[in-house]
Amino acid sequence: MTRFPLGTRPTTLSVTLLLAALLTLGAAAIHFAVTPPHLREYLPFGAFFIVVACAQVMLAVELLVRPSRRLALGMAIGSAGLVGLWFVSRTVGLPIGPQPWTPEETGLTDVVCNLLEIISTLLFVILAIHPPCRRPHRLWRIALTSLPTTLLVSGMTAVAVAAELSPMPEAVNFAPSRPGATVSVADLTGPPAGAEHVDRFTLVARPSQIDGQTEWTLNGSVPGPELRVTQGDRVQVTLQNELPESTTLHWHGLRIPNAEDGVAGLTQDAVPPGQSYTYDFVATDAGTYWYHSHQQTERQLTKGLFGALVVEPAGGRVAEDVDDVVLLHGEPGHVRINGEHQTLHLAAQPGQTVRLRLIDAVAPSMDGGPETPVLIGAPARVVALDGHDLNAPPSLGPTRLPLGMGQRADVVFTMPSAGSVELRLAELRGQTTAVQNTIATLFPGDQQPSAFVSLGDGAAPDLPDLNAAPLFDATQYGRSTSDPLASGPFDVERQIVLGERGGIRDGATQLVHTIDGQASPNVPPLEVSEGQRVHLHIVNDTDEFHPMHLHGHVFHLLATDGQPISGSPVLLDSVLVGPRQTVDVAFVADNPGIWMFHCHVLLHAGMGMMMTINYSGVYSPYEMGTRSRNIPE
Ligand code: C2O
Ligand code: CU
Repeated sequence: MTRFPLGTRPTTLSVTLLLAALLTLGAAAIHFAVTPPHLREYLPFGAFFIVVACAQVMLAVELLVRPSRRLALGMAIGSAGLVGLWFVSRTVGLPIGPQPWTPEETGLTDVVCNLLEIISTLLFVILAIHPPCRRPHRLWRIALTSLPTTLLVSGMTAVAVAAELSPMPEAVNFAPSRPGATVSVADLTGPPAGAEHVDRFTLVARPSQIDGQTEWTLNGSVPGPELRVTQGDRVQVTLQNELPESTTLHWHGLRIPNAEDGVAGLTQDAVPPGQSYTYDFVATDAGTYWYHSHQQTERQLTKGLFGALVVEPAGGRVAEDVDDVVLLHGEPGHVRINGEHQTLHLAAQPGQTVRLRLIDAVAPSMDGGPETPVLIGAPARVVALDGHDLNAPPSLGPTRLPLGMGQRADVVFTMPSAGSVELRLAELRGQTTAVQNTIATLFPGDQQPSAFVSLGDGAAPDLPDLNAAPLFDATQYGRSTSDPLASGPFDVERQIVLGERGGIRDGATQLVHTIDGQASPNVPPLEVSEGQRVHLHIVNDTDEFHPMHLHGHVFHLLATDGQPISGSPVLLDSVLVGPRQTVDVAFVADNPGIWMFHCHVLLHAGMGMMMTINYSGVYSPYEMGTRSRNIPE
């Protein structure tokens, strides 16, 4: 009997052997890819990676050609050692290097690499215990069994190597100095102090323990203190940084001089730990605003660096008897209100008028969906959006008011003669689905009762089906008045297409979020000159929500889905663009500088949905990227 028919031959090549060698080669490829940045950062680390990568290639070949128990055992110890080293560097940090005993950040590349090494360690151990026997294997069987793994390993290696080869840029300047650009954003400060009243605040950014958790706080609380000033006041805020990393503060929605805008890498360098920085501006617009870090915004804002900023109208207090901020934050399903996890109770007497200043600072999940508060127990008027008054706002029954992240709404009502009023959170997309209901029944523990606001004492109002309440429509609310920006001609017109695609950016695989097909920092800026009238036609080419926020300006909402607005003029700094929706806005370029325009879903902005509006003649001396460590998103 022929045991070895033509085309097969006895071989020592076993599947285990082949896989172990393949995984080692994959890890070696990744180590080669990470060598250049490490060489730049710290020479010994770079050298170490070269040595490891070369050793891995040689040993993998050796293992294929001359497999032995000793070699397998040695490689098992070696790769286990590498995994151990990685683990230490990511938890307590290594005793040597540019920052001894500081844990490094974990990225996709090193996770993939260590996964390969952990599996290969196991295979080496198997090989050491059961060395490849001389039992014949047909080559086609070996090929077939190892094919899926080969594909997987090469795929993972390719992604990890590609990620490593497209890291976050070292240095990007959004508005480089060039001939003709003579004004630096650093010089675009306001006029010197005059006779106006000055409000001074000090905000200390530091980690604090809140409910047994470390949060990043301003003056020890999350949210930071509510800053209340009067229109026309000069506001001077000193940010004192006691965090382990650099930070800034941005005054969301306020039209202030560019140099005070607080964007790391664009209008200033982030304030390093231990240092302080003073912002100085005049609060020209009355209304509801907020402030937050604009350095590594996605992380720092979520960690707690934000607060409310209220500008009361000049010449007297707000007309209502009760005037309270309702700052929504946290995450969808775990929304907190003014720091409270459950109920926020506000005092109000029957017959009193109440103004609630709603601010949505909830960090949405990937779909970017808004929060949709509903007021129950009293008819209410939406008197302002993003701080700007609406004209002749009528009273509404329970209505879902969608607020994209960053947006604000002022709601005014009169307390009923008996009973309390509640502000609850509904869903935007209507009724809960059968699947959601089933999940809720199967996992009742996950049903976190969402936080809400109650006002006044007495019996709670009857709760209607919140998700069936009508949706507020800003395009036909209130009375229209002439709006000089409502129609053309415009000096600058641009279509802004919001898109997304899978890809690799900043050293990681991402759902890259694009503007006009490009991700930040490659989106071409919108170039304007002072005094120009600018029209933006925003097209949302995704199934997500994008609250698009423009710094330093106010835009007038002209139309949604091509339908011109028919009610009160709507002035916003953040416009919520729904899935597949188009929105037209216009603004006057009346505040020279280099200004950010980005999606306020911080995940989206961090994945590229950010661009700048550049005034001609202005440049920025600041840069973002790994060199300056300014990372505005
Ligand atoms: Cu609320 Cu660019 O920020
Ligand atoms: Cu978005």
